[in-house]
Amino acid sequence: MERSYILHMFTPGKQMSPFDINMAVDAGYQVVVPYCGVSLDEITGLTQDAIFSRGPKGVKATGIFIGGRDVMLAADMLARARKAMVPPFEVSVIADPSGAYTTAAALVACVERQLGVAHGTDLTGKRVLILGGTGTVGRIAGVLAAGLGAQVTLASHRDQANAERAAAETAQRFGCSLRGAGTGDEASRRAALAEADVVLATAAAGVQVMSADDRASAAGLLVAADVNAVPPEGIAGVGVMDNGKPIAGMRAVGIGALAVGNVKYQVENGLLVAMRNADKPLYLGFAEAFDKAREILAAKG
Ligand SMILES: NC(=O)c1ccc[n+]([C@@H]2O[C@H](COP(=O)([O-])OP(=O)(O)OC[C@H]3O[C@@H](n4cnc5c(N)ncnc54)[C@H](OP(=O)(O)O)[C@@H]3O)[C@@H](O)[C@H]2O)c1
Repeated sequence: MERSYILHMFTPGKQMSPFDINMAVDAGYQVVVPYCGVSLDEITGLTQDAIFSRGPKGVKATGIFIGGRDVMLAADMLARARKAMVPPFEVSVIADPSGAYTTAAALVACVERQLGVAHGTDLTGKRVLILGGTGTVGRIAGVLAAGLGAQVTLASHRDQANAERAAAETAQRFGCSLRGAGTGDEASRRAALAEADVVLATAAAGVQVMSADDRASAAGLLVAADVNAVPPEGIAGVGVMDNGKPIAGMRAVGIGALAVGNVKYQVENGLLVAMRNADKPLYLGFAEAFDKAREILAAKG
């Protein structure tokens, strides 16, 4: 008998994301089971409960998804699940808390592409300011950009201390260098923009973090990218469909939320399909999501 594809979806939260449930089914998983309120200490037991019943062949048709809202806890859960495997009883595992790993991967890959296409350069040494940078997408975008040699600042609209705390804990967890900046008032936001080569808007949905009047302070910008698809746009003048469109009055080009979202969708779908088709188990975090995003953009030419 053909075995059904089963995805066990673990989240520390109250609910599994409907978005990710839809993505799992559209990627070919036939049985999708959410487990809510899962703690880190429960991952080993749940994982081992999932791997033994189907035999070494059946485990290929079994996968684990790790969700939630905490990008650092999800990385710990992915590592814990991997450690719990008992070869040959091993299943593939993907982590994508709140879509942050795949969204940040798509965002940074789109920025990298536009730096190359529009300006003939890359992220090495670039000063990247992430407005809304203390959130799930912003932190991981920061880690990915820092890994490519950028000097990254995570900005908080609350205060400097909050930004520094987020930057320090994220940098420590993922072994990279990140700075924090409080950008709650106009003067501090404009001072930060004046120093930036790239600005990423990753604040909560429906929040504008860079106004039309802020543009004059950002003369050196090369790329401005926004992931907020809920009006108003996160960066004034960057439309949701823009993908390398010059921003009025600037040398920067803009990337909008739906341009990023299109790549994010393909990344998540591609990784879930790869898990189903893999001969050997896959362990997929934001680094693998970024490789996939680059592959998708390279295929577009
Ligand atoms: N395009 C796509 O494919 C895609 C996919 C997934 C998510 N998204 C979007 O990505 C964005 C980020 O998602 P997320 O889960 O990372 O968001 P989040 O964690 O809910 O929020 C990000 C940050 O926004 C800041 N913020 C909250 N209210 C603010 C306000 N009034 N003014 C300025 N900053 C504010 C907060 O930082 P401070 O309090 O420290 O300032 C928070 O840490 C959202 O807009 C989401 O809809 C897009």
